[in-house]
Amino acid sequence: MLPMKRPAPAPAGGKIFFPMAHAQPMTIPLDLTWVRSQFPSLAQSVNGQAAVFLDGPGGTQVPQRVIDAISGYLAHDNANTGGAYHTSRNTDRMIGEARSAMGDFLNCDADEVVIGANMTSLTYAMSMAIGRDLGPGDEIVVTLLDHDANFSPWKALEEKGVIVRAAKFNPVDCTLDMADLARQITNHTRLVAVGYASNAVGTINDVAEVVRLAREAGALSYIDAVHYAPHGLIDARALDCDFLACSTYKFFGPHMAVLYGKRAHLQRLVPYKLRPNTNSIPNCWEWGTLNHECIAGIKACVEYWEELGRRANPSAASRRAAIVAAHAAIHQHERVLMEKMIAGLTAIPGLKLYGIRDRQRFDERCATFAVRVDGQTPLELATKLGERGFFTWDGNYYAINVTEQLDVERSGGFLRIGLVHYNTAEEVERLLAALGEIVV
Ligand SMILES: Cc1ncc(COP(=O)(O)O)c(C=O)c1O
Repeated sequence: MLPMKRPAPAPAGGKIFFPMAHAQPMTIPLDLTWVRSQFPSLAQSVNGQAAVFLDGPGGTQVPQRVIDAISGYLAHDNANTGGAYHTSRNTDRMIGEARSAMGDFLNCDADEVVIGANMTSLTYAMSMAIGRDLGPGDEIVVTLLDHDANFSPWKALEEKGVIVRAAKFNPVDCTLDMADLARQITNHTRLVAVGYASNAVGTINDVAEVVRLAREAGALSYIDAVHYAPHGLIDARALDCDFLACSTYKFFGPHMAVLYGKRAHLQRLVPYKLRPNTNSIPNCWEWGTLNHECIAGIKACVEYWEELGRRANPSAASRRAAIVAAHAAIHQHERVLMEKMIAGLTAIPGLKLYGIRDRQRFDERCATFAVRVDGQTPLELATKLGERGFFTWDGNYYAINVTEQLDVERSGGFLRIGLVHYNTAEEVERLLAALGEIVV
């Protein structure tokens, strides 16, 4: 049995619900010209129209320095780890630096950062390891608002007799039903898995409260921060969660992912691993040879965040302080875009916007919008928009419980419009104008 009955300390840093709570007073707004100049792919056009990347929730674009770091690694340091020669040593050093950069991004120590191919495989690796100690009589709580990557890996433990309970969400505003979640957590609960933000409808969950509820019951908390990471500051220490996973390709890095695990858990739990692999953390949690060139890209991605932050706050005293400032600038910018987008979308007749629409509650959502239009499928809409240079997504984007609960799964899911910090007010206006033409 897992030794989970721990005391329940108050969350460090007080209430840490929404990104606003992290925002420092901003004097320098986001330098959007500089931001966009960093991302070469943004300059593309489609059918003579400037491309508008509204597909951030599926994966963001990368700054030039990430591209350079990946090709630079392959040109100069391409080697496996642990060898007694120059390029291998450079690789070891670079991976250590990337880990410590991600430690600053998440606010944890470098040896608490596990690098993996993607969030899904990291979560399966962790569910298998945690599941070693679980069986009949143990329970796990998941939510119906989550991406399937924070659902199915835990559901898989039903094979061992574990009961997996799913907390509901409120279909009117697509927010987590916290009372239901609290009811599902019992003294049999061993783990609570929850998303920081919904990749389908943009809701930001009160994860600090979920972590508190889990801890109070003696259960572990596992946070899926994949969708939240490009929008809000992650502070693993202040959150005091046990695990938190995110994918670097959603916050301007390469196609990889990282998992924060509290050192004590990474040391105590037994990973499924190959025998010759080291027993030391975090390496014992990393399967096979990693994508070293992309790890070089992860380091460059954090350097991008750092530079963005130093431009927003030139007196930032550390890399972490710069990342905090970057998030504050991003939050301010995305908020303006979000207000414009929601005002525009809700003014289009026949268009239904899901999730929070009340301006007073915009701190509880990020700039990700799920919409449906009478008489047109999401795929038809995405195709028409795609021809005009707007890159949106259609379907369930693996948040299949959400589309099923809202009864849109059989009719094509949603059209998803996702904004990140490199999007502009002009792009929002263009999108709204195009939608206005397409919808009538
Ligand atoms: C909220 C959320 N969680 C998890 C995932 C899965 O991430 P990965 O592709 O790294 O496995 C995604 C991917 O879209 C996501 O949006």
